[in-house]
Amino acid sequence: MSAVSFIKRILTQAVHNTTDRIANFGVNLAAHHLGKRIEDRVVIHKFNKIYYDFELFEKMGWLGVKTGQNPCDNWVMQEIITEVKPDFIIETGTGEGGTTLFYATVLSQVNELGKILTIDLVPQFGKASKFKLFQERVEFIQGSTTSPKIVEAVTQRVKGKKVLITLDSKHTKENVLNEIKCYAPLVSRDSYLVVQDTNANGHPVLPDFGPGPYEAVQEFLKTDKNFVIDHNREKFLLTFYPSGYLKRIK
Ligand SMILES: C[S@@+](CC[C@H](N)C(=O)[O-])C[C@H]1O[C@@H](n2cnc3c(N)ncnc32)[C@H](O)[C@@H]1O
Repeated sequence: MSAVSFIKRILTQAVHNTTDRIANFGVNLAAHHLGKRIEDRVVIHKFNKIYYDFELFEKMGWLGVKTGQNPCDNWVMQEIITEVKPDFIIETGTGEGGTTLFYATVLSQVNELGKILTIDLVPQFGKASKFKLFQERVEFIQGSTTSPKIVEAVTQRVKGKKVLITLDSKHTKENVLNEIKCYAPLVSRDSYLVVQDTNANGHPVLPDFGPGPYEAVQEFLKTDKNFVIDHNREKFLLTFYPSGYLKRIK
Protein backbone atom coordinates (compact mmCIF):
# COMPACT_ATOMS: atom_id res chain seq x y z
CA MET A 1 0.00 0.00 0.00
CA SER A 2 1.37 3.41 -0.95
CA ALA A 3 1.89 6.10 1.68
CA VAL A 4 -0.81 8.24 0.03
CA SER A 5 -3.48 5.53 0.09
CA PHE A 6 -2.48 4.60 3.65
CA ILE A 7 -3.01 8.21 4.82
CA LYS A 8 -6.27 8.36 2.84
CA ARG A 9 -7.48 5.22 4.60
CA ILE A 10 -6.57 6.58 8.06
CA LEU A 11 -8.34 9.88 7.32
CA THR A 12 -11.48 8.13 6.02
CA GLN A 13 -11.55 5.95 9.13
CA ALA A 14 -11.19 9.02 11.38
CA VAL A 15 -14.10 10.79 9.64
CA HIS A 16 -16.26 7.68 9.97
CA ASN A 17 -15.41 7.28 13.66
CA THR A 18 -16.32 10.90 14.39
CA THR A 19 -19.54 10.65 12.39
CA ASP A 20 -20.41 7.48 14.23
CA ARG A 21 -19.87 9.14 17.60
CA ILE A 22 -22.11 12.04 16.60
CA ALA A 23 -24.73 9.66 15.31
CA ASN A 24 -24.73 7.23 18.17
CA PHE A 25 -26.90 9.11 20.65
CA GLY A 26 -29.98 7.24 21.83
CA VAL A 27 -32.34 7.65 18.92
CA ASN A 28 -29.77 6.52 16.42
CA LEU A 29 -29.44 3.19 18.12
CA ALA A 30 -32.76 2.42 16.49
CA ALA A 31 -31.27 2.97 13.09
CA HIS A 32 -28.26 0.96 14.15
CA HIS A 33 -30.53 -1.91 15.06
CA LEU A 34 -32.19 -1.65 11.68
CA GLY A 35 -28.75 -1.92 10.07
CA LYS A 36 -28.80 1.54 8.53
CA ARG A 37 -25.62 3.16 7.29
CA ILE A 38 -23.68 5.74 9.34
CA GLU A 39 -24.67 8.46 6.86
CA ASP A 40 -28.32 7.58 7.45
CA ARG A 41 -27.83 7.81 11.20
CA VAL A 42 -26.42 11.32 10.87
CA VAL A 43 -29.51 12.37 8.92
CA ILE A 44 -31.87 10.70 11.43
CA HIS A 45 -30.05 12.42 14.31
CA LYS A 46 -30.34 15.77 12.56
CA PHE A 47 -33.99 15.25 11.64
CA ASN A 48 -34.87 14.42 15.25
CA LYS A 49 -33.24 17.70 16.29
CA ILE A 50 -34.97 19.72 13.57
CA TYR A 51 -38.35 18.15 14.33
CA TYR A 52 -38.00 18.95 18.03
CA ASP A 53 -36.60 22.44 17.53
CA PHE A 54 -39.62 23.32 15.36
CA GLU A 55 -41.72 22.53 18.46
CA LEU A 56 -44.18 20.59 16.35
CA PHE A 57 -45.38 18.82 19.52
CA GLU A 58 -47.09 22.12 20.38
CA LYS A 59 -49.22 21.73 17.25
CA MET A 60 -50.21 18.11 17.71
CA GLY A 61 -53.78 17.26 18.69
CA TRP A 62 -56.00 14.23 19.26
CA LEU A 63 -59.73 14.85 18.73
CA GLY A 64 -58.90 18.53 18.97
CA VAL A 65 -57.05 18.35 22.30
CA LYS A 66 -53.32 19.02 22.56
CA THR A 67 -51.13 15.95 22.90
CA GLY A 68 -47.57 17.17 23.46
CA GLN A 69 -46.04 14.27 21.55
CA ASN A 70 -45.06 13.29 18.03
CA PRO A 71 -47.11 10.96 15.82
CA CYS A 72 -44.48 8.19 15.81
CA ASP A 73 -44.32 7.81 19.60
CA ASN A 74 -48.11 7.91 19.86
CA TRP A 75 -48.35 5.27 17.13
CA VAL A 76 -45.89 3.06 19.02
CA MET A 77 -47.89 3.60 22.22
CA GLN A 78 -50.98 2.51 20.29
CA GLU A 79 -49.12 -0.68 19.32
CA ILE A 80 -47.97 -1.33 22.90
CA ILE A 81 -51.46 -0.74 24.34
CA THR A 82 -52.92 -3.08 21.72
CA GLU A 83 -50.37 -5.81 22.52
CA VAL A 84 -50.45 -5.50 26.31
CA LYS A 85 -54.18 -4.72 26.70
CA PRO A 86 -53.54 -3.30 30.17
CA ASP A 87 -56.20 -3.03 32.85
CA PHE A 88 -54.56 0.22 33.94
CA ILE A 89 -52.37 2.79 32.25
CA ILE A 90 -50.70 5.08 34.76
CA GLU A 91 -49.65 8.43 33.30
CA THR A 92 -47.64 10.98 35.28
CA GLY A 93 -48.15 14.50 33.90
CA THR A 94 -51.63 14.92 32.42
CA GLY A 95 -51.17 18.37 30.92
CA GLU A 96 -54.15 19.25 28.73
CA GLY A 97 -55.14 15.59 28.58
CA GLY A 98 -54.90 15.04 24.81
CA THR A 99 -52.48 12.16 25.27
CA THR A 100 -54.67 10.72 28.03
CA LEU A 101 -57.63 10.92 25.66
CA PHE A 102 -55.57 9.23 22.95
CA TYR A 103 -54.60 6.36 25.27
CA ALA A 104 -58.25 6.08 26.37
CA THR A 105 -59.41 5.87 22.75
CA VAL A 106 -57.04 2.99 22.00
CA LEU A 107 -57.57 1.25 25.33
CA SER A 108 -61.35 1.28 24.90
CA GLN A 109 -60.92 -0.89 21.79
CA VAL A 110 -58.74 -3.56 23.37
CA ASN A 111 -59.83 -3.82 27.01
CA GLU A 112 -63.49 -3.32 27.78
CA LEU A 113 -62.78 -2.34 31.38
CA GLY A 114 -59.39 -0.66 30.94
CA LYS A 115 -58.80 2.57 32.87
CA ILE A 116 -56.25 5.34 32.96
CA LEU A 117 -54.95 6.84 36.18
CA THR A 118 -53.38 10.18 35.40
CA ILE A 119 -51.59 12.39 37.92
CA ASP A 120 -50.86 16.11 37.80
CA LEU A 121 -50.29 18.99 40.19
CA VAL A 122 -53.03 21.00 38.49
CA PRO A 123 -56.09 20.06 36.44
CA GLN A 124 -55.80 21.63 32.97
CA PHE A 125 -57.82 19.14 30.95
CA GLY A 126 -61.18 20.92 30.67
CA LYS A 127 -61.50 20.30 26.93
CA ALA A 128 -60.53 16.61 27.17
CA SER A 129 -62.95 16.00 30.04
CA LYS A 130 -65.92 16.92 27.81
CA PHE A 131 -65.50 13.59 26.03
CA LYS A 132 -67.68 10.74 27.35
CA LEU A 133 -64.75 8.41 26.80
CA PHE A 134 -62.60 10.53 29.12
CA GLN A 135 -65.32 10.62 31.78
CA GLU A 136 -65.75 6.84 31.61
CA ARG A 137 -62.14 5.77 31.39
CA VAL A 138 -59.97 8.36 33.08
CA GLU A 139 -59.41 8.88 36.80
CA PHE A 140 -57.52 12.06 37.61
CA ILE A 141 -55.40 12.25 40.75
CA GLN A 142 -54.29 15.70 41.82
CA GLY A 143 -50.95 16.13 43.56
CA SER A 144 -47.28 15.31 43.29
CA THR A 145 -46.56 12.02 41.54
CA THR A 146 -44.06 10.96 44.20
CA SER A 147 -46.10 11.91 47.26
CA PRO A 148 -46.25 8.76 49.43
CA LYS A 149 -50.03 9.11 49.79
CA ILE A 150 -50.56 9.12 46.03
CA VAL A 151 -48.10 6.30 45.39
CA GLU A 152 -49.85 4.19 48.03
CA ALA A 153 -53.33 4.96 46.62
CA VAL A 154 -52.22 4.07 43.08
CA THR A 155 -50.47 0.91 44.30
CA GLN A 156 -53.63 -0.30 46.05
CA ARG A 157 -55.84 0.60 43.06
CA VAL A 158 -53.86 -1.48 40.54
CA LYS A 159 -52.93 -4.44 42.76
CA GLY A 160 -53.10 -7.72 40.82
CA LYS A 161 -53.94 -5.95 37.53
CA LYS A 162 -52.07 -5.67 34.25
CA VAL A 163 -50.32 -2.30 34.33
CA LEU A 164 -48.56 -0.09 31.77
CA ILE A 165 -46.82 3.08 32.92
CA THR A 166 -45.72 6.23 31.15
CA LEU A 167 -43.81 9.06 32.83
CA ASP A 168 -44.23 12.63 31.57
CA SER A 169 -44.20 15.03 34.52
CA LYS A 170 -41.14 17.01 35.64
CA HIS A 171 -38.18 15.95 33.54
CA THR A 172 -35.26 16.38 35.96
CA LYS A 173 -33.15 13.28 36.59
CA GLU A 174 -34.01 13.42 40.28
CA ASN A 175 -37.77 13.52 39.78
CA VAL A 176 -37.81 10.89 37.02
CA LEU A 177 -35.62 8.53 39.04
CA ASN A 178 -37.95 8.98 42.02
CA GLU A 179 -40.96 8.25 39.82
CA ILE A 180 -39.26 5.16 38.40
CA LYS A 181 -38.52 3.89 41.91
CA CYS A 182 -42.13 4.51 43.00
CA TYR A 183 -43.89 3.09 39.95
CA ALA A 184 -41.59 0.52 38.24
CA PRO A 185 -42.60 -2.22 40.74
CA LEU A 186 -46.21 -1.85 39.55
CA VAL A 187 -45.44 -2.66 35.89
CA SER A 188 -46.58 -6.14 34.85
CA ARG A 189 -44.25 -8.62 33.21
CA ASP A 190 -44.12 -8.18 29.39
CA SER A 191 -45.58 -4.70 29.82
CA TYR A 192 -43.71 -1.40 29.65
CA LEU A 193 -42.41 1.49 31.69
CA VAL A 194 -42.17 4.29 29.14
CA VAL A 195 -39.87 7.11 30.21
CA GLN A 196 -40.67 10.12 28.07
CA ASP A 197 -38.41 12.92 26.88
CA THR A 198 -35.18 10.95 27.18
CA ASN A 199 -34.14 13.01 24.16
CA ALA A 200 -33.32 15.99 26.44
CA ASN A 201 -29.78 16.88 27.51
CA GLY A 202 -28.25 16.26 24.09
CA HIS A 203 -29.92 12.94 23.19
CA PRO A 204 -30.08 14.70 20.77
CA VAL A 205 -32.08 17.83 21.76
CA LEU A 206 -31.76 20.53 24.45
CA PRO A 207 -28.01 20.07 25.04
CA ASP A 208 -28.00 22.41 28.06
CA PHE A 209 -30.95 20.78 29.84
CA GLY A 210 -28.83 19.06 32.49
CA PRO A 211 -29.33 15.49 33.69
CA GLY A 212 -32.84 14.38 32.81
CA PRO A 213 -34.90 11.30 31.95
CA TYR A 214 -32.13 9.65 29.89
CA GLU A 215 -29.71 9.82 32.81
CA ALA A 216 -32.42 8.57 35.19
CA VAL A 217 -32.95 5.50 33.00
CA GLN A 218 -29.23 4.78 32.81
CA GLU A 219 -28.91 5.03 36.58
CA PHE A 220 -31.95 2.83 37.18
CA LEU A 221 -30.70 0.12 34.83
CA LYS A 222 -27.32 -0.08 36.60
CA THR A 223 -28.96 -2.03 39.39
CA ASP A 224 -32.35 -3.19 38.09
CA LYS A 225 -32.42 -6.46 36.17
CA ASN A 226 -36.19 -6.66 35.62
CA PHE A 227 -36.28 -4.18 32.73
CA VAL A 228 -34.47 -3.92 29.38
CA ILE A 229 -34.49 -1.13 26.83
CA ASP A 230 -36.61 -2.21 23.87
CA HIS A 231 -34.96 -0.38 20.97
CA ASN A 232 -37.36 -2.02 18.53
CA ARG A 233 -39.93 0.52 19.73
CA GLU A 234 -37.78 3.22 18.13
CA LYS A 235 -38.37 1.65 14.73
CA PHE A 236 -39.98 4.71 13.14
CA LEU A 237 -36.67 6.58 13.69
CA LEU A 238 -38.39 9.71 15.04
CA THR A 239 -38.77 9.46 18.81
CA PHE A 240 -38.72 11.69 21.88
CA TYR A 241 -38.08 8.60 24.02
CA PRO A 242 -34.70 7.21 22.85
CA SER A 243 -33.73 4.34 25.19
CA GLY A 244 -36.96 5.17 27.05
CA TYR A 245 -39.16 2.20 26.11
CA LEU A 246 -38.37 -0.15 29.00
CA LYS A 247 -39.85 -3.64 28.82
CA ARG A 248 -40.32 -5.65 31.97
CA ILE A 249 -38.90 -9.09 31.30
CA LYS A 250 -39.17 -10.64 34.77
C1 LIG B 1 -44.99 17.83 29.75
S1 LIG B 1 -46.47 18.19 30.62
C2 LIG B 1 -47.45 16.77 30.31
C3 LIG B 1 -47.89 16.66 28.90
C4 LIG B 1 -48.88 15.55 28.61
N1 LIG B 1 -48.45 14.27 29.14
C5 LIG B 1 -49.05 15.43 27.12
O1 LIG B 1 -48.59 14.44 26.53
O2 LIG B 1 -49.66 16.34 26.52
C6 LIG B 1 -45.93 17.98 32.24
C7 LIG B 1 -47.03 18.04 33.29
O3 LIG B 1 -46.49 17.54 34.50
C8 LIG B 1 -47.03 18.26 35.58
N2 LIG B 1 -46.10 18.10 36.71
C9 LIG B 1 -44.88 18.63 36.90
N3 LIG B 1 -44.33 18.19 38.04
C10 LIG B 1 -45.22 17.35 38.60
C11 LIG B 1 -45.24 16.57 39.78
N4 LIG B 1 -44.23 16.56 40.64
N5 LIG B 1 -46.33 15.81 40.03
C12 LIG B 1 -47.38 15.81 39.18
N6 LIG B 1 -47.41 16.51 38.04
C13 LIG B 1 -46.35 17.28 37.75
C14 LIG B 1 -47.20 19.68 35.06
O4 LIG B 1 -48.22 20.34 35.78
C15 LIG B 1 -47.55 19.44 33.58
O5 LIG B 1 -48.93 19.47 33.36
